[in-house]
Amino acid sequence: MKGVIFNRYGSPDVLEYTDVTKPSPTAKQLLVKVVASSVNPLDCKIRRGMLKVITGNNFPLCLGHDFSGEVVEIGEEIANFQLGDQVYGFFNPGSGKAYGEYMVITPQCLSPKPENLTHSQAAAVPLAASTALQGLRNKAKVKKGQTVLINGASGGVGTFAVQIAKAYQAEVTGVCSGKNIPLVKELGADYTIDYSQENFTENGRQYDIIFDVVCNSSFRKCQKSLTPQGVYLTLAPGFSSIVDGFLSFFSGKQSKLLLVEPQVKDLAELKDLLEQGKVKPIIDKTYQLSEIMAAHTYSETDRVVGKIIVEV
Ligand SMILES: NC(=O)c1ccc[n+]([C@@H]2O[C@H](COP(=O)([O-])OP(=O)(O)OC[C@H]3O[C@@H](n4cnc5c(N)ncnc54)[C@H](OP(=O)(O)O)[C@@H]3O)[C@@H](O)[C@H]2O)c1
Repeated sequence: MKGVIFNRYGSPDVLEYTDVTKPSPTAKQLLVKVVASSVNPLDCKIRRGMLKVITGNNFPLCLGHDFSGEVVEIGEEIANFQLGDQVYGFFNPGSGKAYGEYMVITPQCLSPKPENLTHSQAAAVPLAASTALQGLRNKAKVKKGQTVLINGASGGVGTFAVQIAKAYQAEVTGVCSGKNIPLVKELGADYTIDYSQENFTENGRQYDIIFDVVCNSSFRKCQKSLTPQGVYLTLAPGFSSIVDGFLSFFSGKQSKLLLVEPQVKDLAELKDLLEQGKVKPIIDKTYQLSEIMAAHTYSETDRVVGKIIVEV
């Protein structure tokens, strides 16, 4: 079968579209024929070697976290799935293998695909939308009427975060560049801030939740922009998030870090939101799997609006 591998860490040109061995499922796995995947910044970080502690040096390595496709083989210990099921989901961060015609996966990482979406549309959803949902609902505990600021509202996670915060009936402010303001308003944001014109940490306003999707701020910088019990939420693990967590210990305000993980119930909740029309995927560009280098190169411009799809 055709797939994408890489034999050393580096720029997008380390990616090879080539013949690879078709995987076989164990008793606890499903074999899925992949119709579409996506590019997450996580895939690029792994390719560059930024997660070496997890991914190691046992080359060749594979990539691709999101997938949408069809179940074509079922391990004998698995119940509740049938051949031909149309499914979507994502791999645990660091273990993605969806850039190939077939992949094996455990049932904890997938759910039936939203019926109103094509496979290409569905592949935009799993990791980015689960990040938005787990961040807002589990970490920040978003409630009706709360004020939520999404920093990075036009990207893969941000476009879902705006819509999910609105679905939870929050009042949403989206921060993005001027050119993306019409999109962020169309997604439901009540207010928008063009970051080239205004610094949200210095405008005197306060929010119950600041979701720093682009991770270019910090709890320290955002503290005075949070309401007394406000939550600052970041997606960037590291020294800064540890210091922020420590500082928040002495304040009524909280600093939280989310590391997304696949959850069947979350994929099912997202399926409902998508089928009800409360959330929709925004797709910037679509590439073929053979064009994976170009897809990664585009992702690394940091100008992606919504998601990049990879058709297999
Ligand atoms: N911890 C986790 O579990 C987890 C999960 C998912 C993602 N992440 C991380 O979260 C980050 C965002 O992911 P993503 O998929 O949303 O990335 P993305 O789609 O590549 O983000 C691109 C967007 O970022 C916006 N942007 C760039 N500079 C900005 C700025 N200064 N202020 C506001 N927006 C800005 C761009 O909008 P403009 O063109 O308008 O500037 C663009 O729309 C990545 O670092 C990713 O690795 C972490």
